Amino acid sequence: MLTENRYTAQIAEIIRRDPSLTSRLLRLVNSVYYGLSTPVNSIEEAVFYLGVRQIRQLVTVTPVIEDFQRLTRQCAFPWREFWQHCIGTAILTHEITGAVQAPPDDSDYIAGLVHDVGKIVMASTFPDHFTEIHRQAIQGFRDLTEIENEVLGIDHAELGALYLERHRLSELLVQTARFHHQPEKARSHGHLIASVQIADLLLRSEKMGISGNYLEVTREQCFSASGWKVLFPNTHEAEQAIARASLSHTLELMPQMLEGLV
Ligand SMILES: [Fe+2]
Ligand SMILES: [Fe+2]
Repeated sequence: MLTENRYTAQIAEIIRRDPSLTSRLLRLVNSVYYGLSTPVNSIEEAVFYLGVRQIRQLVTVTPVIEDFQRLTRQCAFPWREFWQHCIGTAILTHEITGAVQAPPDDSDYIAGLVHDVGKIVMASTFPDHFTEIHRQAIQGFRDLTEIENEVLGIDHAELGALYLERHRLSELLVQTARFHHQPEKARSHGHLIASVQIADLLLRSEKMGISGNYLEVTREQCFSASGWKVLFPNTHEAEQAIARASLSHTLELMPQMLEGLV
């Protein structure tokens, strides 16, 4: 126990040297564990709640988040709302995987967070194409990936996967980016990717945050998404209904959480 405490103290000390990592870590712990009655304010506590594995993931994902922040000024795009979409997806993904079988290390949160990283990559690498895609997407007539494929020849899912691969991030993150619109096609991590798909659709249908895909999503479409079959291949409606009911509580809290986070 003593060694463990010393270990936590050392990690906390290293994290404290990086103010942006510190604030991100505190936000993360307070959003993942938003059920805590008192918010977590110290790094030691955050390390305690998140665990070393999750922190390691956060550190690997830091360059991606930094890209987010740097790029918000380059293209005309509702970046703040987009960031809310990403965090909201992370929170809901965590909730959905919890209804089935949550991974022990909260990697679901990070996967939800970076699922749409391809959009940032697109904005930084092909700003003119990105602007044109957004101009067409905002009309709300067509699906975003269809426009992306037409204008650029690649969509944000594939571009994000390539980017994460190049940064040697985990297979889980790569697969999530690549298949988050078609979880049934993923050969591994199907449950998690299915959860991301559902989280993404729910946020879009509730109009919380802005994903950049302006095509309207109905509640019915959310509940007939292919991800449900991946999550519950052999079960009846009842089990799905329970999972859905538990999500509605989180959805109620969501606007307030997202306002505070971004
Ligand atoms: Fe997407
Ligand atoms: Fe998304």
